[in-house]
Amino acid sequence: PTPLRELAAAAGIHVGNGIEAAPLASIPAYEAIVGREYEAVTPGNEMKWGSVEPTRGQYNWGPADQIVAYAEANDQIVRGHTLVWHSQQPNWLTSGNFTPAQLRTILSEHIAVQAGRYEGRVYAWDVVNEPFNENGSYRGTIWYDNLGVDYIADSLRWARAADPGAKLYINDYNIEGINAKSNALYNLAVELLAAGVPLDGIGIQGHIIIGQVPSTFAANMQRFADLGLDVAITELDIRMQLPVTDAKLQTQAADYRSVFQSCIAVDGCIGVTVWGVTDGLSWIPDTFPGEGAALMHDAQYRPKPAWNSVYQLL
Ligand code: XIL
Repeated sequence: PTPLRELAAAAGIHVGNGIEAAPLASIPAYEAIVGREYEAVTPGNEMKWGSVEPTRGQYNWGPADQIVAYAEANDQIVRGHTLVWHSQQPNWLTSGNFTPAQLRTILSEHIAVQAGRYEGRVYAWDVVNEPFNENGSYRGTIWYDNLGVDYIADSLRWARAADPGAKLYINDYNIEGINAKSNALYNLAVELLAAGVPLDGIGIQGHIIIGQVPSTFAANMQRFADLGLDVAITELDIRMQLPVTDAKLQTQAADYRSVFQSCIAVDGCIGVTVWGVTDGLSWIPDTFPGEGAALMHDAQYRPKPAWNSVYQLL
């Protein structure tokens, strides 16, 4: 069969996967799917601050480098994930009692070092991840609380300076449909663009529950595209209450299909990245107890109905 990436390219989108260095190196079935089927890869954890700089000034680039080198060897593009986030930060940072001025310097240096290291090798950076609360207010984080909302514009500018060729994104979840949170992001995007801040794209994570794909998904992507921004679905998974049943798998298949269909239908939607290869290694069961089976291959690396429905669509 034709690799999914070729079918996606013919449909005008990238298909990507959020992968991890350890299984990539140690599980042949995992590596085979990543290398053959996907056009884009996102390091699932390896580029998060806590991973790259666990001790201040001592960098752990190995796993991130491994994924970037793998992508280059397999003609894949890399989505860098992520430069600024409230989660998975190193302890030295979160418990450091730094002043706002110190934090601003630490953040600007972090972005310069990390985006600079991969200059020209990362297609797009999730510069800021998850800046909003569900009601559209800004999430209280070490960055927002100390630097105010300007941390977002500043981070985008620092990223642009470090890697002028990379597409710079703000990425968030529960912004698939038109709602308070996506409205807030939309208003921020309008403001940033008006101020000349280098924002190129909106990342819509896409952590969805079966049967709950918002009906406004395409319209929501379209309004961002109408601002001249790229839109990417960056972390798609569609979870269900366990146990798995055939009926749930059919619902999930229709949901996957409709998400890919929405991306194809919106000119500015450049691709869909699925957040993992196999149900056996997905983050969902750990984070949402009782739920799982959110991906397109099962724990035995067999394609699920979701895979088949996307494959047929493309
Ligand atoms: C998840 C990873 O998949 C897990 O392995 C890790 O334990 C926690 O983070 N939003 C994001 C991703 O932007 O970075 C998260 O990834 C899932 C939610």
